[in-house]
Amino acid sequence: MFENDDHMVLTFTDLVKGEGIQSNQMVIIHEGHSAIFDPGGDLTYMPLSMAITKYVKVKDIEYVIATHQDPDIVSSLDKWLIYSEAKIVISQLWERFIPHLIPGYMKEKAEGRMIAIPDQGMNIPMGHSIIKAIPAHFLHSVGNFHFYDPISKILFSGDVGASLVDSEPEQPVRDFEKHVKKMLGFHQRYMVSNKVCRLWVNMIREMDVEMIVPQHGRPFKGNEMVDRFLDWFETLECGIDRVNQQYYTAP
Ligand SMILES: [Fe+2]
Ligand SMILES: [Fe+2]
Repeated sequence: MFENDDHMVLTFTDLVKGEGIQSNQMVIIHEGHSAIFDPGGDLTYMPLSMAITKYVKVKDIEYVIATHQDPDIVSSLDKWLIYSEAKIVISQLWERFIPHLIPGYMKEKAEGRMIAIPDQGMNIPMGHSIIKAIPAHFLHSVGNFHFYDPISKILFSGDVGASLVDSEPEQPVRDFEKHVKKMLGFHQRYMVSNKVCRLWVNMIREMDVEMIVPQHGRPFKGNEMVDRFLDWFETLECGIDRVNQQYYTAP
């Protein structure tokens, strides 16, 4: 996605085979420091760890960073705890649930390695740069963050902007109108309300974002496509905007 002398951003898009949902894993390598974003479930650990060894040794990975707590995001955590010395970075709301993902005998392995992101977000140091943890609560998880790299200007947006495409998930969106069909149903059901979409869009418009990379499906590349996505998301009715008494009728 991006490369200069001491900075590289990689995404892996085709590591989940078979039953699992297609997902993108992002890796940033900066001055020899490295971070993996939403490393995925059990299905992804082996292929992802093999794919990254070309760039960084698993044991040298500095951060394993999660947007939220879903199984397609962090259920491989036990493996990363065993085979790397990485710090695990996740919302403070989910930090205390993490021990449930790992067997009892491994609790020691996790000790001192958790970084809980406070609700307002934080700057995660990485060599001479930072990764910005950007609040994205209720989009969709109650404790949710996106991650912004100020060098590449890439925003890793978790489930926001996610799409289910049949092929070539690495290819940026070209026809936005057509692409909406691949996103609409998921966003209507999984995102909590239009109010949050608007607040999030207001924040992102103040930032300098050149590419949005979601956890599933195609990225939005270039200011024009990023703006089209923001315009769409800002007006989206979703979650509690769409429910009525019918949804709450005992079967
Ligand atoms: Fe999710
Ligand atoms: Fe997801």
